[in-house]
Amino acid sequence: MNPWELTTTALLACVIFLIFWCQWSQGFKRGKLPPGPTPLPFIGNILQLDMKNILASFSQLAEKYGPIYTLYFGTERVVVLYGYDILKEALIDQGDGKFSLFKKTWKQIQRFSLMTLRNFGMGKRSIEERVQEEAQCLVEKLRKTKGQPTDPTFILGCAPCNVICSILFHNRFEYNDEKFLNLMNLLKENFQVLSSPWAQVRLELFSYSVVVLYLPGKHKQFSRNIEEIKTFALERVKEHHKMLDPSNPQDYIDCYLSKMQQEKDNPQSEFDLENLIAATTDLLAAGTETTSSTLRYGLLLILKHPEVQSKVQKLPCLQEIERVIGRNRAPSIKDRQDMPYVDAGVHEIQRFIDLSPFNLAHAVTQDIQFQKYVLPKGTTIFPLLSPVLWDSKEFPNPDQFDPQHFLDKNGKFKKSDYFMPFSIGKRSCLGEGLAKMELFLFFTSILQNFTLKPVGDPNEISLKSNYVGFINIPPHYQLCFVPL
Ligand code: HEM
Repeated sequence: MNPWELTTTALLACVIFLIFWCQWSQGFKRGKLPPGPTPLPFIGNILQLDMKNILASFSQLAEKYGPIYTLYFGTERVVVLYGYDILKEALIDQGDGKFSLFKKTWKQIQRFSLMTLRNFGMGKRSIEERVQEEAQCLVEKLRKTKGQPTDPTFILGCAPCNVICSILFHNRFEYNDEKFLNLMNLLKENFQVLSSPWAQVRLELFSYSVVVLYLPGKHKQFSRNIEEIKTFALERVKEHHKMLDPSNPQDYIDCYLSKMQQEKDNPQSEFDLENLIAATTDLLAAGTETTSSTLRYGLLLILKHPEVQSKVQKLPCLQEIERVIGRNRAPSIKDRQDMPYVDAGVHEIQRFIDLSPFNLAHAVTQDIQFQKYVLPKGTTIFPLLSPVLWDSKEFPNPDQFDPQHFLDKNGKFKKSDYFMPFSIGKRSCLGEGLAKMELFLFFTSILQNFTLKPVGDPNEISLKSNYVGFINIPPHYQLCFVPL
């Protein structure tokens, strides 16, 4: 490097340093923030966190600073909420959406999606019928494995993806359809990216800044995959446009397109094509791997705990299935109220696996006074779910998988306010009702038709997530579905 280049580089470095320093010091001093460890310029508190076990770091910090504290990921300020009381206060009692989901503002679309997912009159078939249809296809696919050792990842991935496809596009796909397989692959890859410890920090905190372009990692693949999913959705939307009969909408896209027509003269309307593609992509991305990972983890837990399996399958659970449903009809969601043991088992699976330990990042939408602190507009909030789902006051021995956590002394299902795998408040999971329906109907249909047999010694089964990150994905394993 010649002296001229050297001087220019040094000057450039100084300017960048000054910009960062100003940003950092401004951000650090602003407002009356909750306490927290002192951050370093540029890197914030990153060196004080164990990125391989970030939950343990969050827990240690909560012991030191209490249930609300401030951290810096680089120059980005994050306020962590740790524990049931503080989450409830922020997400429910505060209750006016000030702790909103990060960067999203399309309220009308969110309300519409919620209504449509609850709507039982979309076309001729209810959402429950669509899930039941898929559950039967799933059972048939599993029957074809003829009781041989099988890795369930693929089959258990197809079923929830197809349910969303059926709701969005009217039709399910065959499990060997090329377009469907490609879609599943894109969704799976993105879920894996999200499950690395750095990924969500990078995507959520930096995705709106140029910094992301210079960071190493798989986020570029992530964005490319999202674009491909959007293209897939756009093709389906174009097909729907040609065939639309607004008096007889068959699926989510039909309902949306009809709404778009109704609102075409309303300048405030959020119902445009761009938002339709974004909403369709969101539902696919948020509703596929979440449910399928829960199913996979659930079966693994049943294999790992033969005592629970015998209870789940032979004693109360199989009895419950035989007593309430029998063998000659498909399970339906209204059976759940008469099946406390299965219901408790499914809740315990969701509690124990803690699928989304950190929740999604939220942000305060305006300067707010919260407890004795002032949180400036834009502050990122991590309302952690893990400390609530694993709270030992509510769930004795939280690290033990035990459906009794959700049963009372009389064997009746016991609700818990601490059960919040879907988060709580205005921005909680849009698909909660659908996911609960799928989990109940899929698990029950499987147990109604098969005995689950581990390959090898159940004591050897590892439950350790393959990816220790923002989403818990179960390890790969095999099992036998032995027809009953
Ligand atoms: C076991 C299954 C599932 C779990 C554990 C789960 C969990 C979550 C969590 C924790 C959030 C973040 C909520 C917050 O920020 O406060 C979320 C958001 C979301 N979920 Fe789910 N989810 C599941 C299934 C589904 C399904 C089946 C769908 C689709 C139909 C879905 C659609 C969404 C959407 C669209 C959002 C974003 C909400 C928004 O933009 O306001 N989820 N989910």
